[in-house]
Amino acid sequence: MTINRALGTCYYPEQWPREQWEQDAKRMAELGLKWVRIGEFAWSRIEPEHGSFEWDWLDQVIEILGQNDLKVVLGTPTATPPRWMIDRHPDIYAADKNGNPRKFGSRRHYCFSHLGYRAECERIVEFLAKRYGQNPHVAAWQTDNEYGCHDTTISYSEAALHAFWQWCEERYGTIEALNEAWGNVFWSMEYSSFEQIDLPNLTVTEANPVHCMAFRRFSSDQVVSFNQLQTEVIKRYSGAPIAHNYMGRITEFDHFEVGEDLEIASWDSYPLGFLEDRIDADETFKHDHARQGHPDFQAFHHDLYRAVGKGRWWVMEQQPGPVNWAPYNPAPLPGMVRLWTWEAFAHGAENVMYFRWRQAPFAQEQMHSGLLRPDSEVAPAFDEASQVASELEALAEDDNVQAKVALVFDYQSAWATDIQPQGKHCHYFDLVFDHYRAARKLGLSIDIISPTCADLSGYELLMIPGLMTLSAPLRAAIEGFVGLVLAGPRTNAKTAEFSIPLPLPPNLPGLNATIEYVESLRQTAKVPLTIPGNFIKWREQLATTGQIVATTTDGEPAIIEHGNIQYVAGWGDQEVLVYLLENMCAKRKVATEKMPNSVRRRDTKNHRFYFNYANQQRTIADRMIEPAGVIWVEHIST
Ligand code: GAL
Repeated sequence: MTINRALGTCYYPEQWPREQWEQDAKRMAELGLKWVRIGEFAWSRIEPEHGSFEWDWLDQVIEILGQNDLKVVLGTPTATPPRWMIDRHPDIYAADKNGNPRKFGSRRHYCFSHLGYRAECERIVEFLAKRYGQNPHVAAWQTDNEYGCHDTTISYSEAALHAFWQWCEERYGTIEALNEAWGNVFWSMEYSSFEQIDLPNLTVTEANPVHCMAFRRFSSDQVVSFNQLQTEVIKRYSGAPIAHNYMGRITEFDHFEVGEDLEIASWDSYPLGFLEDRIDADETFKHDHARQGHPDFQAFHHDLYRAVGKGRWWVMEQQPGPVNWAPYNPAPLPGMVRLWTWEAFAHGAENVMYFRWRQAPFAQEQMHSGLLRPDSEVAPAFDEASQVASELEALAEDDNVQAKVALVFDYQSAWATDIQPQGKHCHYFDLVFDHYRAARKLGLSIDIISPTCADLSGYELLMIPGLMTLSAPLRAAIEGFVGLVLAGPRTNAKTAEFSIPLPLPPNLPGLNATIEYVESLRQTAKVPLTIPGNFIKWREQLATTGQIVATTTDGEPAIIEHGNIQYVAGWGDQEVLVYLLENMCAKRKVATEKMPNSVRRRDTKNHRFYFNYANQQRTIADRMIEPAGVIWVEHIST
């Protein structure tokens, strides 16, 4: 499938006087933008009072944009229920872990389980879809806005409790089966009816991990069904594709499952905010990358959402300059907005949309930049967007190629590791991300795949670190896989009902190994290996008849190999992972190229792209690359 690359922006016409709309649309078109997202926070202007609608303004905006050859992504406004909604449904709020309501006055103030709110959402989405479903300018939809953002997936409300009882009954059938599956004989936690089960907050000490896991699964399913409610309505009236805008490092719901009901996955990329806000890296690294962002974090999500979107994905919001919400909010190095945009395209994005068109001088995000300043003069990102728009004239079309390396990302493993980290700094996301980073240091392009992937054909290498429960389809695919598998630590370590499986882990196809016990390590503790590098954070004691690739320097098996599986009995640092991946690539004749620090590479069908995330000049492929520089060469297939 050929990808047609395009640019766009996020626009809030309800925040600006009508007289400005025409001028704005003209400037967008002149800049070379093709798409504009509107509407996702505009409920109070569409329906100022319950049941009384004001459509004129929205009709007009869509018409003006359309007349300027701009395609509209219409957002459903359900992330911002207006104030009158609270009068109708005073118990609409999600509840935090302490049972406190998360109240009106910002956004996302609703509980996914609230049936009254679900009905209100169905109603407003139906009005919108009926009115604009056949509008020629509405070329795509967005459901809600950033599910899970501001920690909103999990709610300990009354509505959630009732829905959870029902969910448990559907999953387990009888209370006896639930007691058995949860091991409730432990600490006399047995129930005699589903209605006796509480949500797993406010317990004296930790709740049963399987109770927590069930609640996490339930919470994720609520997001899936909430989204489904909207997509079903939209599809009745419109043939335009539907997207949702996901976030960086939000793991509380299963994005693959939400993605099943959508045609496009998209995400909101704020590289500088993320570096400060949600990435585990040392101070020096953060200092050196403060104006560029982490060289792998955006790419990781591009690859993840390409998988979630079954090939079709966008950046729905691209950081254009300083944001307002991170602990520090620097301006990007000149050139970075262009780099981020090209990087998204190199990973297969169809569209990159800048957030936002004009900086708002009022309310919560007044310190958040846009393509225009509040006085409508151009901000620095405007010229970079303009440069990309002209570069796109020659490079609008391209295609993805399947990578040689596949990496599984599994939301359930993230929940399981959150619930039972066993060591303070053990996060599933970080473990997977460490593998991703190591592969990227070797210049590899990577496909992230779902944990139920049943087809590994075309791959030479598969990585399944920390994958808590190996699904039946993936197990079958591994059994027939001709490439190499890198597994461990903690792979296949739990049953689906959160117990230690028998036979003991890792129990992988063809691998003779037993984990006798595990240890988590203090941050200062490093376990050196007989290959370059150390185990950090985590270590497993292995018994095996397999071949030993490396031991710890105290003589215990650290990395073993049996058939086509290598099992790593610890959390390898970057040196370990780069070493292993390089060797595995060599064995499978996958070409690697060691990247200079903070330079990354990605191949599309037609080009090989290089991106310089360093704040210094680098040399790559015999060429100088400036800080924030992007270069591309005609792709020579390897
Ligand atoms: C996103 C959100 C936008 C805006 C932006 C600011 O998370 O979807 O509405 O708040 O952040 O960076």
